[in-house]
Amino acid sequence: MPKSVKTASRLQEVSPSGLREFFEIGAKLEAKGIDVISLGIGDLDLPLPPFLGDAIADAFATGHTHYSSNAGIYELRQAIADRYESTYNLKYTPEEVLVTCGALEGLLDIMLGHLNPGDRVLVQDPAFGYFANQAKMAGAKVELIPMTPDFDLDVIRYQKEFETNPPQMIIINSPCNPTGSVASRKNVKDIVEQARDHDTIVISDECYEFLRYDGQKHTCSAEFDYDNVIIVNSFSKAFAMTGLRLGYIIAPVHLMQPIYQVHQYNTACAPTPIQVGAMRVLSNPNAVEGIIGTHRNVLDDRRKVALECFKPIKGFKFTYEPVAGFYLFPNVNETGMTGPEFAITLLEESGVIVVPGDQFGSAYPDNIRISVGSAPPNRIREAASRISKFLKDK
Ligand SMILES: Cc1ncc(COP(=O)(O)O)c(C=O)c1O
Repeated sequence: MPKSVKTASRLQEVSPSGLREFFEIGAKLEAKGIDVISLGIGDLDLPLPPFLGDAIADAFATGHTHYSSNAGIYELRQAIADRYESTYNLKYTPEEVLVTCGALEGLLDIMLGHLNPGDRVLVQDPAFGYFANQAKMAGAKVELIPMTPDFDLDVIRYQKEFETNPPQMIIINSPCNPTGSVASRKNVKDIVEQARDHDTIVISDECYEFLRYDGQKHTCSAEFDYDNVIIVNSFSKAFAMTGLRLGYIIAPVHLMQPIYQVHQYNTACAPTPIQVGAMRVLSNPNAVEGIIGTHRNVLDDRRKVALECFKPIKGFKFTYEPVAGFYLFPNVNETGMTGPEFAITLLEESGVIVVPGDQFGSAYPDNIRISVGSAPPNRIREAASRISKFLKDK
């Protein structure tokens, strides 16, 4: 008889991803020959940019297939640090940059390196579900802080929390998944400065930094404080290389040390050929601008098509129109369904996958997230027409 399996207590508070159910239903429908449109996944269907692909292939061919330094190839860390200096006038050294297997590894390293059981962590609501679950895995007590109605960071709410019971850590994310909003510079400054005054660590997830439209500007949280801010960033989205798993953390040495320790015992290093490819791209600013510019144009076009198609749908309310990323986050309350009810019935009856708002916190149970990252304009139009028909039949 096998011994009964006891789950580690650190997983007790961690919720299994509700998305699995959707993908299973989607797979069953596809097996029956139904054409399923996925507006669910936060991935991109864009091909690997040739310059990057060639650089990675060359890295394989020239034998860059071994461990790199744990923290990442020095020249890549230097190139990342240089970019922060030229873009934000922030002077980090390569020792303050850690290359990780995607932002996700970096985020978990930070939580495991900095949180103790019972520590209080504030996470914006709505937010990418991994933040809260990873903090819980580290034993922290997570509290969700609703964003303002226009999906900015709510300064007053944070102020109240800092004054009454300063948290160990806050996690903010701009541009934001799932809202496609960009936090205002003033609010980021205010919250980062409050955190500094209360000795609270700020994790600032800036993975969608490059995917902004309509002239939106990005604010890097570290512009307002060096000592308490940890920046998390990634090559996944802007370079359309989600499966190649390359991200990075930037933090002052005193915050980096425990993160580095976890990383070292976790993965040793990020995949070396991918690091070499990224390093070659970063050392060529024209290549970077070309790749990111192309992706930004494609995604901006999809965002416009999606707004044009989804806004007129009866029962959809866009209290906010996204200006970044590749997501839309409408409220579907007027359809008479909650976000989860809407998402499940839509999938079963019309073969369109969207993600219910309850996967991103507790403040928006009547919203859904629509991702256009893997849906070209013709699929967006087809999805919108299926949704209109689905709602007419209700
Ligand atoms: C806000 C945010 N952070 C991090 C990630 C994960 O990025 P990576 O692929 O680099 O692990 C995602 C992916 O959807 C995200 O939306």
